[in-house]
Amino acid sequence: MIIKTNKFKSFFDQQPGTSGLRRKTKHFMQEHYLESFVQATLNAIKEQAEGKIEEAPLIIGGDGRFFNKEAIQKIMRVALANGYKHLCIAKGGILSTPAASVEIRKRKASGGFILSASHNPAGLNEDFGIKYNCENGGPAQEKLTNRIFEISKALTEYKITEIPEINIDSIGALILASGAKIEIFDGVKNYADLMQNLFDFGKIRTLFENGFKMRFDAMYAVTGPYAKVIFEDLLGAPLGSVEHFIPREDFGGEHPDPNQVHAKHLIDFMYSAKAADFAAASDGDGDRNLIVGKKCFVSPGDSLAIIASEAKKCIPAFKGGLKGVARSMPTSQALDLVAKKLNIESFETPTGWKYFVNLMDTGKCSICGEESFGTGGDHIREKDGIWAVLCWLSILAHYEKKSVQDIVTDFWKEFGRNYYQRHDYEGLDAEIASNFCDNLRGKLEEFIGQEIGKYKIRYADDFNYTDAVDNSVTSKQGIRIFLCNAGKEEVGRVVFRLSGTGSSGALLRVYYELFEREKINLTSDEALKDIIVSAQKFLRLKEVFDKDKADVIT
Ligand code: G1P
Ligand code: ZN
Repeated sequence: MIIKTNKFKSFFDQQPGTSGLRRKTKHFMQEHYLESFVQATLNAIKEQAEGKIEEAPLIIGGDGRFFNKEAIQKIMRVALANGYKHLCIAKGGILSTPAASVEIRKRKASGGFILSASHNPAGLNEDFGIKYNCENGGPAQEKLTNRIFEISKALTEYKITEIPEINIDSIGALILASGAKIEIFDGVKNYADLMQNLFDFGKIRTLFENGFKMRFDAMYAVTGPYAKVIFEDLLGAPLGSVEHFIPREDFGGEHPDPNQVHAKHLIDFMYSAKAADFAAASDGDGDRNLIVGKKCFVSPGDSLAIIASEAKKCIPAFKGGLKGVARSMPTSQALDLVAKKLNIESFETPTGWKYFVNLMDTGKCSICGEESFGTGGDHIREKDGIWAVLCWLSILAHYEKKSVQDIVTDFWKEFGRNYYQRHDYEGLDAEIASNFCDNLRGKLEEFIGQEIGKYKIRYADDFNYTDAVDNSVTSKQGIRIFLCNAGKEEVGRVVFRLSGTGSSGALLRVYYELFEREKINLTSDEALKDIIVSAQKFLRLKEVFDKDKADVIT
């Protein structure tokens, strides 16, 4: 095996964001760019690792988007040149983010590269991404990603082997002359096996035998092969229940983000006369989920809280009860109400799955989630779209006769309802957006006592997080404005922060939440109108960004 050293001019923009490094595909395709990031990552891991990590397997796969396969070939060559002895590549390059986490854990790998820009559109003119997950199967922590960035800025060469292209489309193993092994594995099998251990497939199968109708939209992205096997083959959902199941390099030209905007067709279907009993969708890399019942969209915050509330009763993996739960700061606080009832802790972390990982690794939390349609458990260290769907199927199978709507309404009757919306302002000038946040950050104390609609600001801060396990501090994670009613009870929040997953420009996310104990039957538009209109004025969003309203509301 010939190992070459390629010299290049360092890149200065390889700082991973909320979930890995994301850039335009063409940017990734420029000479040396991907190799630089991979070399910087391998160098950073080597610094932190104890022992010979090159001996352990390295998992590589992605969401199937344009450039996925070429990127895999490049990563293989760099990893082999860096002494890695056992590369495990998902067949066809198809490996969902949760399945990558499963493989890393199951194979006791040193880690894995996941090629994905999640729900961002794919194609030559769209986005590409890469992230590294560590030996626990979870996303690299900030300490590591910061180190990768530091190393990349000074990197001027990488190692690469000159092997011919490897066929990754059929399962098998190849031993190279150097003794290194390249294994091509089925990216679905271990994941499907794990799901069968966590859930009662027999019980869910009975649900389908009794005529239960489901529609799952894989959005031409990575979950198609997983959903086909799990829902149709193993659980007996009628053939055709899973749609758009063959992954395409451009995700069919769509935006595989399972929400009210990009999965509107699915929600419309569920509000039509032809509706199934249950519908769900997942995103580009399979870690997000959308849950819809007949005439009943389930907001991610409610879905998370309901899963936590029903877990012990309905999901075999949790029959011993939950250790704790966690949600990202902007996520609806419905989960906290459940935790209070269950008498367990509810952790509040910054946005991004990596903050849940320490909590799960140390047995502090069993279920966690984010408002951005991400829900997961401690079976792996990533959020997991299909797992969330299986949680719902388990709840429905347990109650047999209850619809999704019944389950949601019963939950609100017991706990009250947290009305919730997220408003995204896209394509902003990065400097204006960052000045906007800095400026308001400086005024937080002045906010106290001012009015937003019929509510008063009780308190405002910039969210700082101290990790409950290693005490590391993450600051500036979003501005929170807490609202109280005339009786001085805290009933709502307005939160805003800049997104960390874009590939260019800036994206401002504004989150609105209002808790109602009795009025549980409003639409979120009706319930939140007063707060939204007033907060938009209060924050001067129109003047600063010249936009009358948000581009995307979920
Ligand atoms: C977004 C979501 C966040 C999620 C991340 C990765 O990050 O808001 O909850 O963890 O995508 O899927 P953001 O763009 O807000 O930084
Ligand atoms: Zn995703």
